[in-house]
Amino acid sequence: MQRTLIVDALTCTDPQQEIVICGWVRTRRDAKEFSFLELNDGSCLANIQCILDIDTQAYANSKEVNTGAAVSITGSLVASPGKGQQWEVRAREMTLFGLADPETFPLQKKRHSDEFLRTIAHLRSRTNKYGAAFRIRSEAAKAVHDFFHSRHFYYVHTPLLTGSDCEGAGELFRVTTLPAGDTDLHNDFFARPCGLTVSGQLEAEALAMGLGRVYTFGPTFRAENSNTPRHAAEFWMIEPEMAFADLQDNMELGESLTRYVIEHILAHCDDDISLFNNFVDKELRSRLQNIIDNPFARVSYTEAVDILTSSAQSFEYPVHFGTDLQTEHERYLAEEHFKRPTIVYDYPKEIKAFYMRSNDDGKTVAAMDVLVPRIGELIGGAQREERLDILEKRIIETGQDPSEYWWYLDLRRFGSVPHAGFGMGFERLLMLLTGVSNIRDVIPFPRTPGNLDF
Ligand code: 4AD
Ligand code: MG
Repeated sequence: MQRTLIVDALTCTDPQQEIVICGWVRTRRDAKEFSFLELNDGSCLANIQCILDIDTQAYANSKEVNTGAAVSITGSLVASPGKGQQWEVRAREMTLFGLADPETFPLQKKRHSDEFLRTIAHLRSRTNKYGAAFRIRSEAAKAVHDFFHSRHFYYVHTPLLTGSDCEGAGELFRVTTLPAGDTDLHNDFFARPCGLTVSGQLEAEALAMGLGRVYTFGPTFRAENSNTPRHAAEFWMIEPEMAFADLQDNMELGESLTRYVIEHILAHCDDDISLFNNFVDKELRSRLQNIIDNPFARVSYTEAVDILTSSAQSFEYPVHFGTDLQTEHERYLAEEHFKRPTIVYDYPKEIKAFYMRSNDDGKTVAAMDVLVPRIGELIGGAQREERLDILEKRIIETGQDPSEYWWYLDLRRFGSVPHAGFGMGFERLLMLLTGVSNIRDVIPFPRTPGNLDF
């Protein structure tokens, strides 16, 4: 099909004698001698206005065409006399692909609530807001790849089917081919327990020991039953891993990545960001600019706890050395206290995973979380324990069996090096980029407890 995308039509420098535009009708307005159709094809936020004069085939064909219908219009691209757009299409012919019955098509003109739109996730990408969200999602993914490639990180693919629970939190979705009633693992596909991965980190570490710098960017799964606006059961994670690197290098990488993606989106998604700034979060642009302009705050966990306990704020969950920080604490640090993204490092070992490097104080590990305003934790990572004996001890201390980690321990047996990495939740990054407050609205088909409708 020979056609011009609306994004290209609207950025033409000259009028076009013949142009074909395909799209969905956003609005129709009828006057005595002509009709206006606003078409959108998803290529950009803006619609293109088409004028169908009464004496054209296009007009004659458009009788039943209403909001939601899919059409192709052939005509000329001419300078628009109306305000708000530079170009419009003088239609000659129209082909109708599919009608949308105005009685039943749910996306009529008025604004719909996010909650309602979640119930029609298969249609919501046809609205301005979700079109913008998913375009930003695509562009942010590109920025992530650009960032890592410019720093010589190789993109690696780690398995989704796994026999280990990397975070050790027992949040694995089980995968089995056993028929209902059969519990004998010998009959199962792998003849051992299998789950969907919660993180590609352990495999990424192995690859970093050969390729030097690697990253994964793929789906991860967590069966945690937390029905919060920041948790999804299926989400995408960006996980870099660097050989010959320590916690400081890790912090620098997380901070630079965050800033790079924000700069890229501000430079390449201006219209879509404006929509979010105007209709979702009036402070979006200034917050993003603030993140670009200022270095992230850095504070040890111990200092962070002191800040929280001596603050006048009353928290739902009390905090003292040894407690995990809750979202309310994380947000207080980034929003109220430091007023910018904040990296908290050196957490007590009891609340962090076995693979994090033990610090000399015997109490803390070289962990880091990047906390951002409005969201809380965006990144979680660490310098990894590269010393074989200490790692084995930690595995046992955390109630696990070192033999299960035989290949992971091999990495410490053969040419072990200091190394570090982190995981950034891609949807959390998108919440930061758009000001959207619910994770369900930045992923096309969200999976949360009880929701698997699409
Ligand atoms: O802090 P987490 O659990 O870290 C890991 O999984 C490490 N193995 C990563 C690594 O070092 N390679 O998760 C990393 C990030 C969090 O900071 C958060 O942004 C996101 O993943 N995340 C979730 N996002 C959406 N829904 C959930 N249920 C999430 N759980 C974690
Ligand atoms: Mg974490």
